Amino acid sequence: MNLLLYGAPGSGKGTQANMLREHFGIPHIATGDMLRAEIQAGTELGRKAQPILAAGQYVSDEIMIGIVRHRLGEPDCTPGFIMDGFPRTVPQAEALDDLMHELDKRFDRVIYLKVPVDDLLHRLSGRLVCPQCQRTYPPGTAACAADASVLVQREDDKPEAVRPRIEIYLEKTVPVLDHYRHGRLVSEIDGRGTIEEISSQVLTAVASKNGQPARAAHAVVKKQKA
Ligand code: AP5
Ligand code: MG
Repeated sequence: MNLLLYGAPGSGKGTQANMLREHFGIPHIATGDMLRAEIQAGTELGRKAQPILAAGQYVSDEIMIGIVRHRLGEPDCTPGFIMDGFPRTVPQAEALDDLMHELDKRFDRVIYLKVPVDDLLHRLSGRLVCPQCQRTYPPGTAACAADASVLVQREDDKPEAVRPRIEIYLEKTVPVLDHYRHGRLVSEIDGRGTIEEISSQVLTAVASKNGQPARAAHAVVKKQKA
């Protein structure tokens, strides 16, 4: 099962990827999380990437394609993966096509979480993240549910970086959706309901590809919540 989560900053990609990772037991490949881990570790890549992320701009295609090429070659990706934050430009999408072809893999579904800009701005300004495991939480959450770390604000969620992130998404990442629409892979989901409602719709979209009845996907979410 290879899934691609697509959507603007703050649309809920990371939130739904966490659910999918637990549901399917496959790794979550989040290029933003990978870059933040490099920054935290103080690597050469991290030192180069830090000011780019802080300004809400994109790291070069060449670097990002190299990172993803390396990650997809790791053995835990063999049963499948959830891609989040890549591709973000048309050249990245073309490189990913080539890479998937080389690896004899294909995407089962592209999930597009569609959220209006005003909601994105509201969500990003209040978002909290765990500095250890990168899980994201809504405003007011005290500590990480997974490891009890004190939550922090992401550097690029500060007001000066949020607008540029939305602008570069509109300019460079919106055209990526057409790349996948041609292959009829895209399930478009209104990302404005509760997290649980969106999770049900995501699972239904994934299941519809596999020919499972939609009811089964909803039942799984209810069971997980119980
Ligand atoms: P990245 O980490 O990928 O950031 P992003 O795409 O801007 O997306 P976010 O992580 O901000 O949002 P999300 O969709 O995951 O939302 P979340 O689930 O957290 O990339 C960061 C940076 O790295 C980029 O700006 C760039 O510099 C660089 N980079 C990464 N990949 C790159 C690439 N391929 N090429 C070049 N550069 C790259 O949810 C947001 C908030 O909303 C949370 O508080 C959450 O609790 C809340 N929320 C979620 N769902 C709901 C809901 N249904 N209702 C209400 N609140 C909700
Ligand atoms: Mg994210």
